[in-house]
Amino acid sequence: MDKLEELRVKYLGRKSELTDVLRALGKIDPKERPMIGQASNLAKRVIEEAIADRVEFLQRKQEDVALEKEVFDVSLPPRGEKTGHIHPITRVITDLEEYYSRMGYMIYDTDNLTNEYDNFDAVNIPDNHPARGMWDTFWVKGETKNKGKLLLSTHTSCVQNKILTENVPPFKSMAFGRCFRHEATDSTHEHTLYQNEGLVVDKNLSVGHLKTVLMDMMQFIVGERVEVRLRPSYFPFVEPGFEVDAQCVKCHGKGCKTCQRAGWIEMLGAGMIHQSVFVEAGYKRNQWTGFAFGVGIERLAMLRYGINDIRYLYAGDKSFVEQF
Ligand code: DAH
Repeated sequence: MDKLEELRVKYLGRKSELTDVLRALGKIDPKERPMIGQASNLAKRVIEEAIADRVEFLQRKQEDVALEKEVFDVSLPPRGEKTGHIHPITRVITDLEEYYSRMGYMIYDTDNLTNEYDNFDAVNIPDNHPARGMWDTFWVKGETKNKGKLLLSTHTSCVQNKILTENVPPFKSMAFGRCFRHEATDSTHEHTLYQNEGLVVDKNLSVGHLKTVLMDMMQFIVGERVEVRLRPSYFPFVEPGFEVDAQCVKCHGKGCKTCQRAGWIEMLGAGMIHQSVFVEAGYKRNQWTGFAFGVGIERLAMLRYGINDIRYLYAGDKSFVEQF
């Protein structure tokens, strides 16, 4: 194509012999003018056509070469593009959100950055109370105006006071959030974890109601009836308080790798809301009853999927996540 352009300039350009001839037509003998004029115009047209033909030919050739290169084999198998996976934790959270909202629970989120009052004082753990040591806390530099020091929420119970003050009983609520604890990890503990916090307030509620709610929730998560065991335990915001275990769904209590031979997996803390928590939120003592429970989402995921080490959930190993 470049060569062709060179030739066009040489034979038809402003400095070509043919252009000289055409330019000189006015000066020559008028008798010879028509003959020379016709002949040189004919020459011009012939050259122009020849170049145009060649240009067309070369363009077509370029297209053919390009098409040949682009040929692809439609019979080849596809390359197997990988699609993303929803993390088991996210799956459990969204399932629970749907489950509880369908049953008329209000759904709350907790804040990652909270304060001494909401996390401790409001749930019956005043300053200097030894129970503050139950949660190894990540304190954050800085202070709030009237709610004490800043900290990363150690449990979703930090939203109890807000829910109690914002709502008029009877009500059912469920809060989801992240918790942070300044402690070493092992196969059943993480320093950063998810919890969901149930808070139900009504007249005449009992531990029986609490246990039923928990058993139904676990049946929903696992897909079959799960045996549940309540062990008396101490949490300042409930009385009585319990630690709740689920029977291992792999071995049904016999003991296996998933439950580390225990037959049971510790799932959550729960209890009947302490009257002091009600009073702190502006309620009259002994007017209402309620139950509360704080469930580790990772524990639920482990129960549901038969995972025996919590650290797999956050190791960022694709071959682990892809199983779900
Ligand atoms: N907040 C407790 C924790 O993270 C768990 C808990 C225990 C929550 C008892 C509750 C409860 O609501 O009633 O260790």
